[in-house]
Amino acid sequence: MNTFWSDLASHGPIAALAPMDGYCDSPYRQIVKKIAPNTVVFSEFYSADGLVHSKELQRRALTHDTSEYPLIIQIFGKDPAMFAEAAKIIEWYGITGIDINMWCPAKKVVKSGHGSSLMINRDTAFQIVEQMSKAVKIPISVKTRLGWENPDLLVDFVKWLENAGASLISVHGRTYKQAFTGRADFAGIYELKQHINIPVICNGDITSYEDGVMKMIHPTGLKNLDGFMIGRSSFGNPWCFLPGNYEPTLDEILVTMRGHGELLWKVKWRHGMMEARKHLVQYLHGFPGVKQYRTSLVHVESADDIYTVIDDIRRDHASLLEEKISGNSPESLLAVWDCTVD
Ligand SMILES: Cc1cc2nc3c(=O)[nH]c(=O)nc-3n(C[C@H](O)[C@H](O)[C@H](O)COP(=O)(O)O)c2cc1C
Repeated sequence: MNTFWSDLASHGPIAALAPMDGYCDSPYRQIVKKIAPNTVVFSEFYSADGLVHSKELQRRALTHDTSEYPLIIQIFGKDPAMFAEAAKIIEWYGITGIDINMWCPAKKVVKSGHGSSLMINRDTAFQIVEQMSKAVKIPISVKTRLGWENPDLLVDFVKWLENAGASLISVHGRTYKQAFTGRADFAGIYELKQHINIPVICNGDITSYEDGVMKMIHPTGLKNLDGFMIGRSSFGNPWCFLPGNYEPTLDEILVTMRGHGELLWKVKWRHGMMEARKHLVQYLHGFPGVKQYRTSLVHVESADDIYTVIDDIRRDHASLLEEKISGNSPESLLAVWDCTVD
């Protein structure tokens, strides 16, 4: 059994950037690591079959910066042989570990037998983990949900994955049926931890490092969880991975926005500007003057456009640069993203 995850867990809480399609590209991961270097970053999900067949996808998905380590690439699919082949390619690129998506509830994903449908196709799930574990030396982990309709089968399912060779499990506290509705419930995750030997990470509605550490604690004093994963609350707020409820100043926010925009331009060129449009406005959530700049930010076409908006904010709000910008309420971000993935 690969000990990467259990070694990491023995050093303290594992704080992780959750895998998010359309967000967790190399520039975003680099920004998170720059602000909070102890974070483990997960990628967007990529098709295992796609990685095997397309050199272009390999280059796009797997090219990374060493500052991103430990870097976990998430893949989806349903054919164990394809997963094993994709795993070899990912390992060859020097990636730290591979995560398997048994989470995604999107209709077309589930219909194809991918994502969360693997929770009810246990034999395939087992084969996938087992064949990947045999194919590579790097750790194999799984991200899943509480269950299909209810959490009753979670313990059995994860024991199955552990026996196949998975060395970490992350669980989102909602079932497949719930998709993104309601609040995440961790009772089933605490229960799971009592029955398996690999580290367990919780996920769902966690707003900050401190919130994550609180959620790791078993309410009745039994075994605590090993870490937490933050997704939506990290948008425009990579500081959420720092202990101590860190609040950045306007100056720090602008420096980070500039760095993020610069990286997107460098790595993805014009295509990166589509990404910049959705990321950059989020940094200004708590900033009272945001309205004035939103239109310019959602129309940027180059790094220079980004620098111009940032310079404008600096000039117009010079007296606020050293002020802490609070009110970037994670709760409000969660509300914005409280959607069903389809
Ligand atoms: C835009 C978006 C894209 C996502 N893409 C993925 C994905 O590719 N793989 C995955 O396992 N989960 C994905 N998720 C789910 C997140 O990893 C996480 O489980 C979910 O957002 C709940 O965590 P949060 O409340 O901290 O956001 C995505 C979520 C969002 C909002």
